[in-house]
Amino acid sequence: MLHSRPVVQKCLILYPTKQYNFTCGCPGLDEVSPIPLLFWFMTAYELRSKYIAFFKSKDHAQIQGKSLLPDNDPTVLFTTAGMHPLVPYLLGEDHPAGNRLVDYQKCIRTGDIDVVGDTSHLTFFEMLGNWSLGDYFKEGAIEMSFEFLTAPEWLGISLERIGVTVFEGDATVARDEESAAVWKRLGIPESRISYRPRADNWWGPAGATGPCGPDSEMFIDMEKEPCGPACAPGCSCGKWLEIWNDVFMQYHKNAPEEYTPLARQCVDTGMGIERTVTILNGKTSVYDTELFAPIIAAVEQAAAYHYGSDPDKDRSVRIICDHVRAATFILGDPKGVSPSNVGAGYVLRRLIRRAVRHGLKLGIHGTLLSPIAQVIIDQMSGPYPELTENRLFVRTELDKEEGRFLETLQKGEQEFEKLLPSLRQDSRKIMSGRLAFKLYDTYGFPIELTEELAAEQGMTVNRPEFEKAFKQHQELSRAGSEQLFKGGLVDQGIMAVKYHTATHLLHQALRTVLGKHVAQKGSNITAERMRFDFSHGAAMSAEEIAQVQALVNEQIQRDLPVTMTMMGLDEAKASGAIALFGEKYESQVKVYTIGDDSHGVFSKEVCGGPHVDRTGTLGTFKIQKEQSSSAGVRRIRAVLE
Ligand code: SER
Repeated sequence: MLHSRPVVQKCLILYPTKQYNFTCGCPGLDEVSPIPLLFWFMTAYELRSKYIAFFKSKDHAQIQGKSLLPDNDPTVLFTTAGMHPLVPYLLGEDHPAGNRLVDYQKCIRTGDIDVVGDTSHLTFFEMLGNWSLGDYFKEGAIEMSFEFLTAPEWLGISLERIGVTVFEGDATVARDEESAAVWKRLGIPESRISYRPRADNWWGPAGATGPCGPDSEMFIDMEKEPCGPACAPGCSCGKWLEIWNDVFMQYHKNAPEEYTPLARQCVDTGMGIERTVTILNGKTSVYDTELFAPIIAAVEQAAAYHYGSDPDKDRSVRIICDHVRAATFILGDPKGVSPSNVGAGYVLRRLIRRAVRHGLKLGIHGTLLSPIAQVIIDQMSGPYPELTENRLFVRTELDKEEGRFLETLQKGEQEFEKLLPSLRQDSRKIMSGRLAFKLYDTYGFPIELTEELAAEQGMTVNRPEFEKAFKQHQELSRAGSEQLFKGGLVDQGIMAVKYHTATHLLHQALRTVLGKHVAQKGSNITAERMRFDFSHGAAMSAEEIAQVQALVNEQIQRDLPVTMTMMGLDEAKASGAIALFGEKYESQVKVYTIGDDSHGVFSKEVCGGPHVDRTGTLGTFKIQKEQSSSAGVRRIRAVLE
């Protein structure tokens, strides 16, 4: 370790509170009394134990959390929430352990993978949850949540700092006055009860169908100035942080806008451990909790870098911590998968490779991942003994994948070194984009790395020239390709195929969000990005862009099957397949369908292909730019990460 960390006492002075006045018994600290203490310093371990003990005391049976890789659910690659393995029971099946359940569940969400690196997002997290399967409903759930949050023997949070939100109601489902009345009776004043719309206070299924209902969320006041007169629980300015969500499962979503009441009313609650520990300890970043301290320390040691000294490097440290943690849990799962190019294995590969790249950015050479994984295994094998059981597999797979990726990178680097003497002769200190392209094309060397290596030599890469070389390469492939279709797919590499499937998802998502007038006007795909032109009269709002992006990512997460059928053009059109206006088709065409009867069909298009077999292999879809292309035509530039 390069520096010593402050010793964390059992108690920490966190917030002044009007309610409690503890003395902590820690040497030196009692002298500073009468500074009141709100919370005891709480570790994830204590939070997990307290939560389980509390609900056991309320007649809940503790059940085992399930695998990160869901059974019999092709709609998602990973378990994404605590309730996910319980869906059959929320839908009416009897649970062998009874109708009051409690557990902690490991979860992975990959939708935010590209923003991991900031101070709050994680791919792997743990969720605490309690369930009522036709037993208590709103009143019982809220009363128990309130007791756990406020009673001194549990979390002991001051009542004054708790705010809640409830569903404001809409044309389909009434305003949730019942939940609001319970909160009021328990002592939450009206001013800290916010009524919020469906976008905020409704929990829906990860796929297109499933159990859903209004929810009531609990927030802690971070005692910051409100951002304005409308600032209330649920506001995203940072004053109110959510720690718990009580979902009142009442409906089954059969199709968009089509709900039927569930056979029995259920409760699903979710409390994210990392987030709650952060808030309870007065921190603003999950990475500043005891959960990440040993992992950060391991990265610091490997990199000989002091976390907190440089924002760019800190970001790399956080990416390594999160990604190795997620990779350790995926590999350490009883159903652990190996890195591969499909499905969950592909996500795992991305996590590992991104971590390695950021390790290199920190100047770490040599085995990085498996020693860090060992720290995580040691830290987490209490609640997750499978990590110890599978530790050899975890470490070996990490070593292998790290080695493979480093080899690829090394080859590229050697080539770069060979180029150096001639590069140095360029007095402008600009590396030719053609050379950068050659490294990319021949050795799979990412352009960002070439730029980094060039920067180390005090040079820049001629990026426009790189892009041009890329384009020319595509044109050559196009000339030689019999598979030219739709003006879009010219490069038959795996990434191009993925982008092509993403184009269909985007096309349908735009039609869903903006309307049926949206028609494809052109597309252009490279192995690194896609461009999509479409008819629409106005610039898209930030919200529309976010909705379209989320809708595409939802279909990716659902891992929908992509299938092809040959049929007559008229038959294709009659079946609802989108065909491009003005396009010339043969009388027999291929129709690509994304989704099927059991998942619901998301998109159907006449198209030459090829496409991926399942949407789950696409990664994360991100819209980078939305701009005008020509009159009445907009252009989206997007990437798969
Ligand atoms: N399903 C809800 C969530 O994940 C509560 O568990 O937040």
